[in-house]
Amino acid sequence: MSNSASAVNTIAILTSGGDAPGMNAAVRACARTAWARGVNVKGIMRGYSGLLKEEIFEMEKKFTTNIISRGGTTLYTARCLEFKKPEVQEEAAEILRKHGIDGLIVIGGDGSFRGAQAMSRQGINTVALPGTIDLDIGCTEYTIGFDTAVNTALDAIDKIRDTSASHERCSIIEVMGRDAGYIALWCGIASGAEEIIIPERYDGNRPKLLLSLIEGVMETHGKGKRHHLIINAEGIGHSHSMAKDIENATGIETRATILGHVQRGGSPTARDRVYASYMSALAVDLLCAGATNRVVGYRNGQYIDYDIEEALSMHKDVDEYEYQISRMLGRSIYTL
Ligand code: ADP
Ligand code: F6P
Repeated sequence: MSNSASAVNTIAILTSGGDAPGMNAAVRACARTAWARGVNVKGIMRGYSGLLKEEIFEMEKKFTTNIISRGGTTLYTARCLEFKKPEVQEEAAEILRKHGIDGLIVIGGDGSFRGAQAMSRQGINTVALPGTIDLDIGCTEYTIGFDTAVNTALDAIDKIRDTSASHERCSIIEVMGRDAGYIALWCGIASGAEEIIIPERYDGNRPKLLLSLIEGVMETHGKGKRHHLIINAEGIGHSHSMAKDIENATGIETRATILGHVQRGGSPTARDRVYASYMSALAVDLLCAGATNRVVGYRNGQYIDYDIEEALSMHKDVDEYEYQISRMLGRSIYTL
């Protein structure tokens, strides 16, 4: 596609919200696809906050070299609460126009999508890409960063398993995910954990949860299990106090480890790089074709795009069968 065939002449790219491994691969693919289509590219530093401060620069080819393998985001990221105000959004659109920007790509989570929607309503053609380690975006089965975060967490959990087994302990490992348990679920099944605690299956009754954990540890311990692995999602929290309560109730030494932000960094996996690259190319091609207010996703083996409003109204939940199977596989040989 040449420039004359494109609906946009100059696009800008920003990353917003929590960073995620693979965001750099996305920036690289957005910029390179745009250049291949004859479209100019600008970078915006520090998300919506940088946009309001006009931290906008002409992206040079060099900006996209040696970044595909790097974690984090070389465009930096930020949270900017004032961007929720309509008058601020109007100002942002004016700034974009002033810089000759007629297309915008926003890489972030669903909060960032709302900002993208606002820019689209202000007349800037905007497409969003799902960049979050949490996988908690309803319209897509894949979000940039999830695969790397799970593998990073799994590597740490495997190491904790070694020491936990050597000391015949119980270990609670807390992984990221404030509102979503996908990282916990994947880490739980991949590490062979006996228990996976996720916000989607927690009714807020802490004593009940504790009792079931204690009973689970006692039951498998009684059947010969010498060490125990519990994966807890950040949204549930309280891992240290849970560890104390389990130790007091069972007499089994229990330790808690909170993995924290280590999960957000690191070199992206091949999967994150590849998906980020294809999704980003599609985002640019959508802009070139005149689309606006779209989110790119991956569903049923295909890269797709949705209206942002529709995307934001789509919800997903942890599959009950997958959840039950994950728990069964970690415990069954000791409980049958
Ligand atoms: P994420 O994009 O990872 O979900 P946040 O929820 O923190 O992260 O949102 C990132 C940024 O998106 C916010 O700091 C704000 O600038 C912007 N944003 C969030 N919600 C809205 C909204 N309702 N309207 C406009 N912008 C929003
Ligand atoms: O959304 C990604 C995420 O890492 C969540 O899992 C976590 O709850 C949150 O961001 C933490 O954000 P921060 O430490 O940047 O405030």
